[in-house]
Amino acid sequence: MGRITNKNEYTEHYNLSMKDGDAYWGKIAEELHWFKKWDSVQSGNFDDLNLKWFEGSKTNMSYNCLDRHLEKNGDKVAVIYEDNDPSVKARTFTYKELHAEVCKMANVMKERGVKKGDRVCFYMSMVPELLIGVLACTRIGAIHSVVFGGFSANALSGRIQDSECSMLITNDGGYRGNKIIPLKDIADEALESCPSIENVLVVKRTDSDIKWKEGRDHWLGELMEKASTECEAEQLDAEDPLFILYTSGSTGKPKGLLHTTAGYMTYAYHTFRNVFQVEEDDIYWCTADIGWITGHTYITYGPLLNGSTTVMFEGVPTWPDAGRFWDICDKLKVTHFYTAPTAIRALEACDIEYVNKHSLSTLKVLGSVGEPINEEAWSWYNKNIGKEKCPIVDTWWQTETGGIMISPLAGITDLIPAHATLPLPGVEPLLVDSEGTPVEGNPAEGNLCMNRPWPGIARTIWGDHERYKQTYFSTYPGKYFTGDGARRDEKGNYRITGRVDDVMNISGHRIGTAEVEDALNEHPNVVESAVVGFPHNIKGQGIYAYVICQNAPENEEVLQKELNEIINKMIGPIAKPDKVQVTSGLPKTRSGKIMRRILRKIAANETDSLGDTSTLLNPEIVDTLMAGKK
Ligand code: WTA
Repeated sequence: MGRITNKNEYTEHYNLSMKDGDAYWGKIAEELHWFKKWDSVQSGNFDDLNLKWFEGSKTNMSYNCLDRHLEKNGDKVAVIYEDNDPSVKARTFTYKELHAEVCKMANVMKERGVKKGDRVCFYMSMVPELLIGVLACTRIGAIHSVVFGGFSANALSGRIQDSECSMLITNDGGYRGNKIIPLKDIADEALESCPSIENVLVVKRTDSDIKWKEGRDHWLGELMEKASTECEAEQLDAEDPLFILYTSGSTGKPKGLLHTTAGYMTYAYHTFRNVFQVEEDDIYWCTADIGWITGHTYITYGPLLNGSTTVMFEGVPTWPDAGRFWDICDKLKVTHFYTAPTAIRALEACDIEYVNKHSLSTLKVLGSVGEPINEEAWSWYNKNIGKEKCPIVDTWWQTETGGIMISPLAGITDLIPAHATLPLPGVEPLLVDSEGTPVEGNPAEGNLCMNRPWPGIARTIWGDHERYKQTYFSTYPGKYFTGDGARRDEKGNYRITGRVDDVMNISGHRIGTAEVEDALNEHPNVVESAVVGFPHNIKGQGIYAYVICQNAPENEEVLQKELNEIINKMIGPIAKPDKVQVTSGLPKTRSGKIMRRILRKIAANETDSLGDTSTLLNPEIVDTLMAGKK
């Protein structure tokens, strides 16, 4: 079937994938390398939740990302690494070089006792060893769990404990603009409560002063020097675990979504080439961090599976100035640029000269991911960055989906500002009302579900299959529920309207309201709290916290500072509330449930449409809350 190259082919691919999914995905997968072919393409369903793809096969992710290209494309650049410091020349790794580095790191891991099935945690900034390390895991069948370098020691240790990682890989410190993040110090603190960790490999990056635990800590560089550049790729089963990635949900602690080998690989391969349409000499850059799913699928696996050149950037968009992204685009001759709406809005708010002093003439395709992109940001991106000649692919997907689900195909299918538009092959979206009844016909609006499995779907939550069933398949039995709401227009194009559950999307990062509340409740003076998202110009959503205090705080600013410190410690700075309102009570139903709908409306200044508040246990609290609004 190959890559989709025109609109008719999109329709053909889509129709075949719906009519005979096994035939379709079988043909796509044949383009990859298999030590042994599968016996069956797909089995299991949304009732039994025993989902399997390409069962009976033997394959290897790193083999497909690297070895498969060596003969024809060994000298092609696989990765361009752009340093935080703009005066440092970009480093490149050809496919051959990357292969050698990955083999060395795989050998280092093996020598330090890592075996197939073991969990290896990465807590790093965007250094090359992160990308090399995750590939090394897949080479030997170890399961990587990357924890974003902005999370706190507490968040890191929770994640390490949950999946009982035996190795942690970190760097002494990480550069982020003009700041140094003391990653090793934070890791040391986390490891005080992580008995499963036997070895810590440390990358020297900032040369910061760090503590050292003899026997446990090792400099990765020293071990790499001695390691062999040969390491045979393990022949893995299709459903062997590939990685765990933690993400926030409506309730409880973050969930470790588990992705497995063959299905995720096939899906990453196929979605990358169709959505972005990257050609042989193109330079593709996704600005995400490998700590998030976007960095897994669309910095690392998707591009490398396709033999493309992928850019990895260590720094931030606004340092040394707000023109950094555009400077890199010109310098590296970037053709494909994929970023988040929050970055677009932040850069839009800066002087347009930062854009205009760069040519941006090599750009061909732009992408957006992580949250709904508003029309204004879409138009600014289109006009100023794409110069009205680059299609913008607004890609909707989730950590759970493994890869892009709904998106235009660059230059092939039609674009509508702020719309993710059409489902990719194999994806069967469905809108349902609150009872779970499908909303048929167009236009329509409802909760977004998926009606059939696709190869990239996460197979379970690490150590808690029951929670996986409950979270995604119990609201609407027999369907996967995304947690998002959506509208469908006359022609079947989807527009995602945002989360309909208690998950916030702050600068494109998923944060659960319950997680933030749990942290706030740690403050000795906080009796109860309720957290909601509210519209925010740059971040998309901001965090609004209502807190009930035991004793009226003498100084609310001091309280807010203390709460921020707790959030920093428990989760990380990304979860800091933008606004804190101290209140004497919260709107509750007679059964004691907090009416978040009302809190959301107050936080968003939408108090004209509060709806019926008479059923509340304490209706008088609504006026009090409105009067005290921050
Ligand atoms: C939101 C990120 C609108 C959505 C890949 C989803 C989007 C959540 C889009 C998943 C988009 C992601 N338009 N909303 N193009 N892309 N989202 O797991 O609410 O970090 O459920 O995966 O981000 O976030 P996650």
